[in-house]
Amino acid sequence: MPLRYLNLYGSRGIKIVSGEGQYVWDSNGNKYLDCHTGHGVAFLGHRNPKIVNALKEQLDVLITLSTSYESDLRDEAIKALERVVPSKYSYAYVLNSGSECVDFTLKVARKVSKKSKFVSFINSFHGRTFGAISVTWNPKYREPFKPLIGDVEFLKYNDVSSLEKGITDNVAAVIVEPVQGEGGVNPATHEFMKALRQITYERGVLLIVDEIQTGCGRTGSVWASDIFGVYGDIMLTGKALGGGFPVSVALISEEIGDLVGEGDHGSTFGANPLSLAAIKAGVDVITSDDVAGRTREAGKLIMHELSNAIGNSKMVRELRGLGLMVGAELRFDPKNVIECLQRNGILALKAGTTVVRLLPPYLINKDDITRLVSVMSRCLDEEFIRRTNVRAA
Ligand SMILES: Cc1ncc(COP(=O)(O)O)c(C=O)c1O
Repeated sequence: MPLRYLNLYGSRGIKIVSGEGQYVWDSNGNKYLDCHTGHGVAFLGHRNPKIVNALKEQLDVLITLSTSYESDLRDEAIKALERVVPSKYSYAYVLNSGSECVDFTLKVARKVSKKSKFVSFINSFHGRTFGAISVTWNPKYREPFKPLIGDVEFLKYNDVSSLEKGITDNVAAVIVEPVQGEGGVNPATHEFMKALRQITYERGVLLIVDEIQTGCGRTGSVWASDIFGVYGDIMLTGKALGGGFPVSVALISEEIGDLVGEGDHGSTFGANPLSLAAIKAGVDVITSDDVAGRTREAGKLIMHELSNAIGNSKMVRELRGLGLMVGAELRFDPKNVIECLQRNGILALKAGTTVVRLLPPYLINKDDITRLVSVMSRCLDEEFIRRTNVRAA
């Protein structure tokens, strides 16, 4: 029997062979504006030169090293993070993927609090490992794999009254995305985030802010937490940080980090020299290229142009987002529209059940945005005609 790749994502039917900046190319030479970016990874651009050079240089020096050994590179990567991470956090722990980082911090929360219950939110997404699916809302991701890690309650997002009732003092931690990505591009309200911090604080419950998708400038601020002025006891980042190199980081407050010790977690590949080089270079890009500022401007322009072009369309329920996390909620499954975008040179992805999600690199420019908006308009028109014909037939 030939060995086949077990693909657990639906196929997009094209072969992508190269990428640069905000674009990728397929095997037929077609160019795409990449608003999929590997589920939001290539936000700092495909093959960002600073990150590519850092990785190339590191390849010639050292590829693997246990964190049992001292390392100047590790010190430098942590120093780099210190430049951008809110001062609330005193420890950084480096892992390889977002889900792994979520699992690690759920373990930390249980150990430190000596409690077992977790609170998460309806439409949340935190990854696919056992811990991560346990606090991920979509039953499709959870049901076939039960029993999960135990007592988890899902509260209504952006509903302050549900926080009052659901966050009791027997909860170990609450995990929240400041903008729900996969669940539908739903930004939190300021009122909700402030109340969440206040209630968790008063009831001695830890707050884990999952910035795996929102972090590194994507919302128009280096961290969405800065927009809300709300910080957790733990903050998670991943996706964009390594420019495509798999890396995630848990940032932990002094009081919590002091209670975690040798043997509480480990990862063979965690904090390997290549990932540290990628982190250092990623932070350099974020700070030296005003990634957050450029994202803010580009995000405003996309939202303005999309509102003008499709905001009043009967096919569109709502346009929403923050920075370059943009969602167009349609009144139906967006599958055909996403396929039409792809045929016309734009890669996008689905969120929730009805949302076209756009996660472009911060490098997206005015011309890209003009093209994106005009293709989106055209695809909605095409879908309108298709639906009208289906109804008439
Ligand atoms: C908010 C959030 N948390 C966690 C994850 C899981 O990250 P990974 O796929 O790297 O395990 C994701 C991935 O989409 C995410 O969006």
